[in-house]
Amino acid sequence: MAHSNRDGFSSKFGVIAAAAGSAVGLGNIWRFPYVVGENGGGAFLLLYLFFIVLIGIPVMLSELMIGRKAQVNAFRAFPSLAPKAPFFKIVGIMGVAAAFLILSFYGVVAGWTVEYIWLAVTNQLAGQSNAELKVLFDTFSGSTIQPIFYLVVFMAMTAFIVRGGIQNGIEKYTKVLMPLLFVIIVVLCLRAVTLDGAMVGIEFLFKPDFSKITGDVILSALGQAFFSLSIGMGVIATYGSYISKKENLLNTAVSVSFADTLIAILSGVAIFPAVFAFGIEPGEGPGLVFVVLPQVFSQMMGGYVFAVAFFILLLIAALTSSVSLLEVVVAYFSEELKLERKKATVLAAVSITVLGVFCVVSPKLFDLFEWTSSNLLLPFGGLLIAIFVGWVLDKEVVRAELESHGKKVAIFKVIMLIVKYIAPVAVAIVLLQSLGVF
Ligand code: TRP
Repeated sequence: MAHSNRDGFSSKFGVIAAAAGSAVGLGNIWRFPYVVGENGGGAFLLLYLFFIVLIGIPVMLSELMIGRKAQVNAFRAFPSLAPKAPFFKIVGIMGVAAAFLILSFYGVVAGWTVEYIWLAVTNQLAGQSNAELKVLFDTFSGSTIQPIFYLVVFMAMTAFIVRGGIQNGIEKYTKVLMPLLFVIIVVLCLRAVTLDGAMVGIEFLFKPDFSKITGDVILSALGQAFFSLSIGMGVIATYGSYISKKENLLNTAVSVSFADTLIAILSGVAIFPAVFAFGIEPGEGPGLVFVVLPQVFSQMMGGYVFAVAFFILLLIAALTSSVSLLEVVVAYFSEELKLERKKATVLAAVSITVLGVFCVVSPKLFDLFEWTSSNLLLPFGGLLIAIFVGWVLDKEVVRAELESHGKKVAIFKVIMLIVKYIAPVAVAIVLLQSLGVF
């Protein structure tokens, strides 16, 4: 792609909204609470925050920097910036593989969301007991035809948006709809924390019990940080290539990460008080929000409207993330394999949907894809990205890109220290440890 015909974002808020649109999704509202629940609460949250600041923000900044400097998508960016280090092409290739795996199970969960919009609209969620909601979820997600139908519906929507080109759609809608989602989550939080017995949930989320920390918990926290920020596979680099040189990339990385983390924590605050107030198992697994939130809506004034609005906005948040995933695969098919863009979109969407069907029929495969992508591929991609910026690129090139808006970045040295040593070593230790090397 030549520089001149690249779409740009029309405003600073537009870029942040689109990158935040990719970051904020099912990862924050569906995955974060259930992973926190499975990993024992507060101590996991603390590790998660630690990884966001120490590794997430620097890797996001690195990706933005790589994309903006190279002005091309992720798998072209590495060879174009460092022709002498062809090995780093692997980041782009792993990115395509990760996008494939992630989107195949992501589409299934997004399909559940579509089903829940339907259940909310037809008022089938209200007044159900805990046990009934659990049966409802288990029966639905354990069946075959319905989840596949909703998966196909969701993937068709994603493909439709990607085919039309990313910028026009995404920027316009996310700017309005993400703040709306935020408002609904805040209202949910207010309702949840005023339930009887809410305190236990707050303590579960915020009071770290360090005895709960194991190797698996550490790896899950790292994986969740990567998954939630959309980093480690080049999606953010591609967004970076659209950002104007006048923007301060450090600010962008910090704002996006802050927004993403805030939404995840608020989702936790909306969920855990209710989990304990209603006597649900925090380690319930992927069904957690789908079992808990309908009960919170039942206990709210205007619960019907909130439930409908919530699931619709959750679907939109999922869409702004899924388009960023599909775009990676489509860009690869169309630019590297030289397929026409429309054909590439159909081919990518259909093959990912087929993989998604396997996830519907086999929960084992679902788990495997989820685990491998977030806990292995993304951290490994992030490790290579940090090494690329820290060791392969010239330090002055990195500095010039980070300061292209015309102001000095005061913490440049700290950033380089993290990118060069701390992030690669930390990620390597966590990965090796999880592979049983230590
Ligand atoms: N971050 C998104 C979420 O939280 C999911 C996602 C979109 C993603 N694009 C990504 C994850 C790229 C990893 C890499 O829902």
